[in-house]
Amino acid sequence: MNIFVYPGSFDPVTNGHLDIINRAVKMCDKLIVAVLINTNKKPTFTIEERVDLLKTVLAGRPDIEIVSFSGLTVDLLKKCNARVIVRGLRAISDFENEFQMALINKELAPDIETIFMMTSINYTYLSSSAIKELAINNGVIDGMVPDCIKGKILEKFRYKQGESNGNLFNT
Ligand code: PNS
Repeated sequence: MNIFVYPGSFDPVTNGHLDIINRAVKMCDKLIVAVLINTNKKPTFTIEERVDLLKTVLAGRPDIEIVSFSGLTVDLLKKCNARVIVRGLRAISDFENEFQMALINKELAPDIETIFMMTSINYTYLSSSAIKELAINNGVIDGMVPDCIKGKILEKFRYKQGESNGNLFNT
């Protein structure tokens, strides 16, 4: 069985991630979407919330499994009998970090390949951070995240809204 692993923070999952997932799954028998528990980016959504959002979006997809993990991505792949890491690339700005990560992973596990997929043009500007920035400031996130989780994402920021929306401050 040809198993690919798509690791990430998914804080939260975006339509850009979904685009990669939908295209990657066509190239393997099973795609494991692996959510890192302790990212060094201090996630906004808890691990349970991040997994739950993915499960909502990917419900009824027998060829996709969602797991959470800690530790090294290559160790997860070995445990799952997988040989391929999938990563999305949006712009040149992503490249340096991704290149470094791929080389380190290659050093750690020479049998494991990282494949990069160019994000579809519609989503090149999208990031989880941009969505959080919009959501916290009452901006529109339509078309950036799947409709079925939009409410849950906005709800997370509801208590913070009003504090900052369009307010002018005298300095
Ligand atoms: O969505 P992100 O935050 O860009 O995903 C980054 C992720 C989770 C793929 C990366 O941080 C990762 O693989 N972390 C696990 C630790 C590891 O294996 N690091 C790679 C060698 S430096």
